[in-house]
Amino acid sequence: MITLISGTNRPESRTRLFVDYFADQLRRLGEEVAILDMADLHHGYFQEEMYQGKPGNADLVALHRRYIQPTRKFAVFAPEYNGSYPGVLKLFLDGISVIDYAGNFAGKHVALVGLASGRAGNLRGVDHLADVFAHMGAWVLPNRLPISSIENLIAEDELSDEETKNVLRKLAEQLIAA
Ligand SMILES: Cc1cc2nc3c(=O)[nH]c(=O)nc-3n(C[C@H](O)[C@H](O)[C@H](O)COP(=O)(O)O)c2cc1C
Repeated sequence: MITLISGTNRPESRTRLFVDYFADQLRRLGEEVAILDMADLHHGYFQEEMYQGKPGNADLVALHRRYIQPTRKFAVFAPEYNGSYPGVLKLFLDGISVIDYAGNFAGKHVALVGLASGRAGNLRGVDHLADVFAHMGAWVLPNRLPISSIENLIAEDELSDEETKNVLRKLAEQLIAA
């Protein structure tokens, strides 16, 4: 199974449209896919108890057991918020790190995709995220994919740009081969 993480909790986030396209491509290639959307997190996780460690908040533990622990490969889609990736994603990574640090990302493969309204495709935020995943022991795929001006790539709530579809398909193949 490959887990895709949609890295923002913003309602009607455009990032999720790219995640859905990537998920379809992986399924077409025969992979089982799970999608963990930061919009699905309960705000109640993010209290001071989130740092208590084991056994940890029951709901957060359940998400960890379902989406993170059994998975060997991930693709993380990070929109650009103020020149980096969204804080909710870091909060989630910190929250699960105190539950089971070794079982999270160590020795696992992670593909990173940046998305932005602007021209930089969140390449800087993806680099920040790559450092965090490397710190947690993950193998980050060398193809860090920046996607810029994303409003222009969408039509009728779907990814419509052929070139972007091509690069995402290629990344899906690379993640499967990793
Ligand atoms: C809090 C916040 C900060 C943002 N900062 C940036 C930014 O620094 N650079 C940029 O190109 N776009 C920025 N954006 C626009 C996002 O790139 C845009 O919302 C895009 O659609 C991807 O995010 P989404 O999944 O929330 O839709 C920001 C959006 C929000 C909500």
